Amino acid sequence: MSLLITGGTGYIGSHTVVELQALASKQGTEQDIVIVDDLSNSSTKVLDRIKQITHKTVTFIKADICDYDAMKAVFEQHDIEAVIHFAGHKAVGESNEKPLSYYYNNVSGTVILLRVMAEQNVKKLVFSSSATVYGDNVSPLNETMPTSATNPYGQTKLMVEHILFDLAKSDSDWSIACLRYFNPIGAHNSGLIGENPNGIPNNLLPYVAQVAVGRLAQLQVFGDDYDTVDGTGVRDYIHVVDLAQGHVKALQNLDKISGCKAINLGTGNGTSVLEIVNTFKEISGQDIPYKIVPRRAGDLATVYANADLANELLDWQATRNLHTMIEDTWRWQSENPQGF
Ligand code: NAD
Ligand code: WQD
Repeated sequence: MSLLITGGTGYIGSHTVVELQALASKQGTEQDIVIVDDLSNSSTKVLDRIKQITHKTVTFIKADICDYDAMKAVFEQHDIEAVIHFAGHKAVGESNEKPLSYYYNNVSGTVILLRVMAEQNVKKLVFSSSATVYGDNVSPLNETMPTSATNPYGQTKLMVEHILFDLAKSDSDWSIACLRYFNPIGAHNSGLIGENPNGIPNNLLPYVAQVAVGRLAQLQVFGDDYDTVDGTGVRDYIHVVDLAQGHVKALQNLDKISGCKAINLGTGNGTSVLEIVNTFKEISGQDIPYKIVPRRAGDLATVYANADLANELLDWQATRNLHTMIEDTWRWQSENPQGF
């Protein structure tokens, strides 16, 4: 039996493939993995790196999840038992400029994948949702809070969540973990895989890392007048390997989940932009020039998780601290200054 990982050559997907193989090796078993990715935001070089880390080969299929025939062929040619669905576009700013592309890829693509899964009677799914679905609720954020979205990207995550809840309600054979990620950062400690954004990064950590390595001149800090420890925005940064292990635990515990469950994957701790900059400076030994600029539209002061449900249902909690997250980000960035 194989696991299908959509978006498996991307940032979180590649780390999850490594953790799935690590678990199989620890258990002395083999895990067949099929990655489907259209390479719209990743490269096949990731596959060589995964092989270097795990000494295992995965099956790679270049396909678009929006292509029904291609997805059907994947299920017909491989004995898939469960799917981890990472594939999607993820840039908030771009989603305002290209909403149709986001709704088509993230929502229609997921509906096509679900339709094929239903037809092939594969009803176990782990889905990449996001803390963005909490809108402007006050942190700590827990899974019972009302959801909302303020941009097309967030809307796509919310719409898919609604689709998944409706699907699970319509057919009790489905087991779905809807994992709401907080802010994934860091990289595998081999320095071989990590986040590799196209163009100028939108997110804080890849931006800071590229300033530290000399690719970008200066960080812009979006606002220092929030009601936080030092006036800059506070987020719940989580190591991507902890996040990947959360997916492994979700798969292992899918049988305990009846229907569809939304589950936070965060640390429960908040860190400010300036705390990130100062820690990065200390660990990398590089100067990180920055300028305070006005707030970014749509940003909240403070966002962090209540991570109790993941502990209860999945027996999972984040274990890597901020120092490790930044040390691993810096190893990846300094050893791969231009990415893959
Ligand atoms: P990523 O861009 O590195 O990975 C996504 C992968 O999906 C890429 O390899 C891309 O080529 C592929 N892809 C996109 N559209 C596709 C399609 N139609 N068919 C096949 N492949 C397709 O992003 P990531 O950071 O690894 O994020 C993975 C998932 O987690 C996404 O769904 C994202 O929305 C969600 N998420 C990410 C974050 C974050 O901050 N990184 C936070 C919350 C949720
Ligand atoms: C973090 C903090 C910024 C860049 C986004 C998405 C969310 C999720 C994760 C997918 C904030 C500040 C940032 C910069 C800065 N993605 N900042 N200068 O906004 O919490 O979440 O990524 O689901 O949906 O919205 O993450 O990394 O962009 O920002 O000062 O150049 O860093 O204001 O306080 P965010 P981020």
